[in-house]
Amino acid sequence: MREPLVVAHRGASAALPEHTLAAYELALREGADGLECDVRLTRDGHLVCVHDRTVDRTSDGSGVVSESTLAELREFNYGTPDVPAELLTLDTLVELALSWTERPVKLFVETKHPVRFGSLVESKVLAALARFGISTPASAAHARAVVMSFSAAAVWRVRRSAPLLPTVLLGESARYLGGSAATTVGATAVGPSVKTLREHPDTVDKAAAAGRATYCWTVDDRADVELCRELGVGWVATNHPGRTKNWLAS
Ligand code: G3P
Ligand code: CA
Repeated sequence: MREPLVVAHRGASAALPEHTLAAYELALREGADGLECDVRLTRDGHLVCVHDRTVDRTSDGSGVVSESTLAELREFNYGTPDVPAELLTLDTLVELALSWTERPVKLFVETKHPVRFGSLVESKVLAALARFGISTPASAAHARAVVMSFSAAAVWRVRRSAPLLPTVLLGESARYLGGSAATTVGATAVGPSVKTLREHPDTVDKAAAAGRATYCWTVDDRADVELCRELGVGWVATNHPGRTKNWLAS
């Protein structure tokens, strides 16, 4: 069985501030196969890589992303006092992933919901991926981008507008992920949390039987990495990409 591929969750975010260019560059140097990011729309329509509704936790400023302009959010420091970092846009992250020539790196873009701009987020994500020429891959294996969401409606919107693009329906409940939701929205993979996978290890086989891959988050402990390996999880998202790659190689 193939080893799980390793996705850097918000970059190498255990070592460096999440969603910063430096965290993603470190993840690439550490051997990550994929890069995960959360995206939100600013008030003036720019996609930025921010997990929370506000930038209060991850910057030295404050404010709701959807109520602030890109220029306003760019005023803040997203790194540390000693090593400042700029706000990361999705465009810059796509450029980084595509510029990495050592191996083809996949970008896992998660859209957050509910949000003020609703389906505009998926429209903008798909437009950005199209601009970079990565919205119509020849196959899921060749795809350089995957779109994910806890929102089934969001996954459905992506599937309908970009049917060749792989998608992950994220969820906390094995019952939900193993039920009809993933089929209904046409998700190509399911994304259980590692807690869900521990409690319901058959989630992976059930997904495979339906032709779907499994993406598991957030896998930071060695025992969980081993569990994912044994179960045949395709992708593990972790805050420690380098360490996880080493564990999987041993
Ligand atoms: O990779 C999926 C995972 O990131 C979902 O949870 O809250 O970290 O975005 P969260
Ligand atoms: Ca996420």
